Amino acid sequence: MAPPDLLELDSLTITAIIDNELDPISPCPNPAVQQSGNLKDVALNGRKLAKDERGGALAEFRMDEICCSAHGLSLLITGMQGDQKHTILFDTGPEESAWERNARRLRADIAPIEVIQLSHWHRDHSGGMLKVLEMVNAARREQNSNLPPVSVDLHPKRPMYSGMWPPGLPGPMSMEADPTFEEIEALGAKVAKSDQAHTICEDMFLVSGEIPRVTEYEKGLKFGVRYHGEEKGWEEDMKMPDERLLMCKLKGKGIVVFTGCSHAGVVNASRHAVELGGGAPLYAVMGGFHLADADAGYIQSTVNDLKALDTQIMLAGHCTGWRAKFKIQEEMPGRLVPSFVGSKFEL
Ligand SMILES: [Fe+2]
Repeated sequence: MAPPDLLELDSLTITAIIDNELDPISPCPNPAVQQSGNLKDVALNGRKLAKDERGGALAEFRMDEICCSAHGLSLLITGMQGDQKHTILFDTGPEESAWERNARRLRADIAPIEVIQLSHWHRDHSGGMLKVLEMVNAARREQNSNLPPVSVDLHPKRPMYSGMWPPGLPGPMSMEADPTFEEIEALGAKVAKSDQAHTICEDMFLVSGEIPRVTEYEKGLKFGVRYHGEEKGWEEDMKMPDERLLMCKLKGKGIVVFTGCSHAGVVNASRHAVELGGGAPLYAVMGGFHLADADAGYIQSTVNDLKALDTQIMLAGHCTGWRAKFKIQEEMPGRLVPSFVGSKFEL
């Protein structure tokens, strides 16, 4: 069944609460994107100083107001159309303290988060989930908000554990367990399980189902495994069918797709978004492109295909890796906007 039509948004703002890299100095290389959160913004948002306090200094520029990078992803996304506005959190980063620290330093407006979508069951995306829910609940209490419970959009097949089992090791390296459905519900959230494409937030955003693997070179997570309990043990899980993208449409521009880790392949995810979006042009791709451990041929094929899709903006972050970003910049000059933690992007 075809998913319902997506609303076309007037604008979109994205705040990177968690990402792998920090660079609050480099200017935004693409004029189509408004980027804030640099050192000047941090300084001017800090404690204002009285005129006579420190020889006319405007504000105290504090190092403990700058976000810290962490291996994972968490994007606070707000879509606007006319006077309608909806806020989603795409992934929750790897650990509670990292999310809490950065959300506080950013003074992020988290009470309006309606949906938390987990891109896939991996701890670098799910690790902050329970703290996020606690903090959203607290922010809502403070504001006397009567919004309905946060909906946590999850793939139904939660693994007991996930990990990697590279050849030569006598056993797998296991990540910590993801939060359970029960733990999420115990914090008052509503668990929404789905492995099918569906829209959320009054058709402003779409969460995909399984991303079709089409390209020949995007083969999944190297050495990926998941644990099924004592009887079945660890099984290969390179394909990771639980990975789902998030997308929306921007008026006059095209599709914006968010990809958590691109274990399905960033090109497969982008092509699927175009398919789900009825063939609209691909405006922007944001998230982890998972090319940090890819060989040169894989990176080249990806860049060729992103070029063929005529992707206008690549907000590459998390697991993209510096070599792939360098290649995109080299071959598609001006289209790369590296996603740095603490940055706010307006499209
Ligand atoms: Fe990841």
